[in-house]
Amino acid sequence: MSTKRKIAELQADKTAMPAATESMAIGLQVAGLHLALSGQTILPDISFSLCTHGITTLIGPSGAGKSTLLRCLNQLYDGWQGEMRIAGHDARRWPQGADALRRQIALIAQKPAVFPCSIEQNVVFGLPKRQRKAFSASQIEQVLQQAALWDEVKNRLDAPAQTLSIGQQQRLCIARALALSPALLLLDEPTASLDPHSKQIIETSLLQLAENMPVLCVTHDIEQAQRLGGQVVFICDGRIIEIAAADDFFSHPERLESREFLHWSTCDCA
Ligand SMILES: Nc1ncnc2c1ncn2[C@@H]1O[C@H](COP(=O)(O)OP(=O)(O)OP(=O)(O)O)[C@@H](O)[C@H]1O
Ligand SMILES: [Mg+2]
Repeated sequence: MSTKRKIAELQADKTAMPAATESMAIGLQVAGLHLALSGQTILPDISFSLCTHGITTLIGPSGAGKSTLLRCLNQLYDGWQGEMRIAGHDARRWPQGADALRRQIALIAQKPAVFPCSIEQNVVFGLPKRQRKAFSASQIEQVLQQAALWDEVKNRLDAPAQTLSIGQQQRLCIARALALSPALLLLDEPTASLDPHSKQIIETSLLQLAENMPVLCVTHDIEQAQRLGGQVVFICDGRIIEIAAADDFFSHPERLESREFLHWSTCDCA
């Protein structure tokens, strides 16, 4: 089946991409999140939630705080204040400690970062050393399938990961994240430097992954946010301006700032 058709089918099946509603289980809950860096407040007061599955796009102008928010959720900053619950657990009291929590929150960057080793070794790279050997061939196949890369690499798992195209490397990063069985998948402009075909493959993969986990994806590509559907969080100047189902946001944005952003790709929130 073509990736375009798959996206259309997944979009038609609204149960696969729910917007957050109170009746659904919560995968991530953030309340009153405050973050200052170098003495400057970047995120004054962020509150939102994601269901246990479904896709959410995080959009907003450059400098709005999108990457900072993802990094904060990924526990890369110590100094945040407020509440953060992941799969029902308080992030500050994670049962197995901060490192285990970081592994549960996968963050995929814009530029794929593969390690100078084989494709197979890259898949298990994020696992604690004692778990790498126990990760079976069928588990490797499974995460590569989920990342829509298996068919392209199944005959060369021993090849250096750097021999893959950039689009394939990005999917390898997704597979590596999935090997950790994350509770939350965060992506920061994952297709920004990719060709349209690679972009489509990754979008299809994200829609499928979102059937089983919360996926939060930053994008500057408004058409991509429309294609992915689900929920939209619009952020500007470190503040959430509007959260809505994608269909509603793109057809009838409620806030003036949202309308400005959709029209001009910028807004005047500061
Ligand atoms: N370590 C830091 N110290 C001080 N300020 C920072 C730091 N990191 C980020 N910022 C500031 O936080 C603000 C938000 O940056 P961020 O990278 O999150 O924006 P963004 O929405 O991801 O933008 P873009 O769309 O261009 O990637 C910017 O003004 C940036 O300069
Ligand atoms: Mg950014």
